[in-house]
Amino acid sequence: MAILDDPGLFGRQWAASYDRTDNPDPADAVEFLAGLAGGGPALELAIGSGRVALPLAARGVAVEGIEAAPEMVALMRAKPGGADVPVLVADMADVGVEGPYPLAYLVFNTLFNLTGAGRQEDCFRNVARVLAPGGAFVIEAFVPDPADFDRDEQVVVRSVTEDAVTVRVHQYDREAQTFVRQTITFTDGGVRLKPFGMHYRWPEQIDELAAAAGLRLEARYAGWRREPFGPDSRDHVSVYRKPLTEPGTRGT
Ligand SMILES: C[S@@+](CC[C@H](N)C(=O)[O-])C[C@H]1O[C@@H](n2cnc3c(N)ncnc32)[C@H](O)[C@@H]1O
Repeated sequence: MAILDDPGLFGRQWAASYDRTDNPDPADAVEFLAGLAGGGPALELAIGSGRVALPLAARGVAVEGIEAAPEMVALMRAKPGGADVPVLVADMADVGVEGPYPLAYLVFNTLFNLTGAGRQEDCFRNVARVLAPGGAFVIEAFVPDPADFDRDEQVVVRSVTEDAVTVRVHQYDREAQTFVRQTITFTDGGVRLKPFGMHYRWPEQIDELAAAAGLRLEARYAGWRREPFGPDSRDHVSVYRKPLTEPGTRGT
C-alpha cells in the first residue's frame, strides 16, 4: 500500500506541528547516548528536527544525521547549532554515508517507519557496514501490545474542544504486522486527514534483524535510565554491538 512506503510522508504531514507537540524530553536519551559515543562521530538515523541530536552535539559529541524529510531538517537548521550538523537527505535504510561511527542510533519508534519489504533488514545491514568495529547501534521502540489491535482496528480520541475534535483511527494487518493510521481533525471549516503507517516488531524480532546483520544484543532496558526490561515493559532501549573483529578473522 503506497501510504506505508513513502519516506517523505511523515515530514510533509507533521513537520509544521512537530516541535509544538508533546515530544519526550531528550535529556535521559542524551546522557545514555553520550556514554556510548566514544570519540564520535555519532550517526542519528531519522534525525528529524534535532530533538536528540542538538543536545547531544551541545555535550560535545559530533553528530551527523540522515533524514528523509527536508521539512524536518529545516526545523533543525533554524535552531541554535542546527546549521552545524551534517545531514544527508535520503532514506535511512540505505545509510548512504561512509563512517566509521562508534555509535549509530534510531529512536522514538522510527525503525517501524520503514514499511517497505525488506527495508528494516536493509537498515540493519547498512548500519552494520558503517559502524566501527566494536561500535554500538541503539534502538528505542515500543513493544507492540496485542490489546491495541484485538479487533484489527482502534479508535483513539485525541482531543475534544469547543472548536475541534481530533481522533486517531488505526487499521491493523496482524499478519504483516503493519498498521495504517489516520489522524482526523474535524472543525467547522472542514476535515483534515494525516495518514501514517508503521511496520511494528517485537523486540525478539528486532534481535533477529540485528543478528542477520552481524550485530549482537548487548543490553536491553525499559527506558533511557536503564530501567530493567521485563514482560510488562511497554518500550525498550536496545544496544546492539558490532564485533571487534569480522567473523572468520582472528581477534587479538
Ligand atoms: C518521530 S520523528 C523522530 C525524529 C527524531 N529522531 C526525534 O527523535 O525527534 C520520525 C522521523 O523519521 C523520519 N523518517 C521517516 N521515515 C524515514 C526514512 N525512511 N528515512 C529517513 N527518515 C525517515 C521522518 O521524516 C521524521 O523526521
